Amino acid sequence: MSSKLRASNNKMIGFSIHEGVEITNSMIHDIAALFSDNYGIWSAAAQGRRQGRRIRSSPARLRSDCSPGAPARNFLVQARDADILIGHVLATRWTFQDLDLCWITQLCVCKNYRHQGLATKLLAKLSENNDDDGFGILSSHPFAVAAALRAFSGGLDQVEEYTISFPIRAILASCPVNYVRTAELRGSLFDIEVIDGTVSCADTKFFVDHTEPDTALDAVQSKGIQWPFGRLPEGHEFLVFIEHP
Ligand SMILES: CC(C)(COP(=O)(O)OP(=O)(O)OC[C@H]1O[C@@H](n2cnc3c(N)ncnc32)[C@H](O)[C@@H]1OP(=O)(O)O)[C@@H](O)C(=O)NCCC(=O)NCCS
Repeated sequence: MSSKLRASNNKMIGFSIHEGVEITNSMIHDIAALFSDNYGIWSAAAQGRRQGRRIRSSPARLRSDCSPGAPARNFLVQARDADILIGHVLATRWTFQDLDLCWITQLCVCKNYRHQGLATKLLAKLSENNDDDGFGILSSHPFAVAAALRAFSGGLDQVEEYTISFPIRAILASCPVNYVRTAELRGSLFDIEVIDGTVSCADTKFFVDHTEPDTALDAVQSKGIQWPFGRLPEGHEFLVFIEHP
């Protein structure tokens, strides 16, 4: 399925959605390249000699991290400008008890195309023609969180206090995506004894540098928006789960 959007440079951006075997090796190759050039850099807390270097992913690593086997269903939404990949979202759908769930496993937009609504549009495309009961994302980036809230509910400006009524621990434990299933929840939303400023995040041991996300958080707060997800320790990502009534 494909559609078009006019970009701020007046070019037409094409969107397409693919499931399972429709996600070709050539698509995965392009995604790994976009991710490796645009995602982020390793923080000082990252082990080895990676600190300060770009976070990269090979096509094989991307498949193994973000595309679990059946019965999980894997989806890719791509945005292309004149055939060049400029943004993508990867997601996995599965069923837990009687709930149809969708987890965003990777969201990335090329630096030159940011702040034009592309991430929001990619996520909105992902949810088109689907009856998901809930969407989850683990991300250190406040703009990714804001995009998910805009695409799947009313937007960050509509969240007065963040709550989850679904059984989130059991949902994470049932998720076919390895890094989601092994993420350790942290924050006052899950444990009222926690008083370190964390509200809703998880230890994923993903040591991406927080300088860019911190700047993004300042930008969000300068709009007068109260950030409801709390502080983010090193190696953690904000956990956002959006329920569809
Ligand atoms: C996070 C990322 C995907 C956002 O992509 P994007 O296309 O720029 O996002 P959008 O334009 O759809 O904007 C999403 C939200 O962020 C806000 N935003 C984006 N850029 C902004 C800026 N420079 N200043 C203020 N707000 C900004 C938008 O206003 C929107 O929020 P709103 O709907 O509440 O107004 C992109 O920055 C990225 O690829 N970052 C690196 C990879 C990453 O961290 N991915 C997330 C991990 S899964």
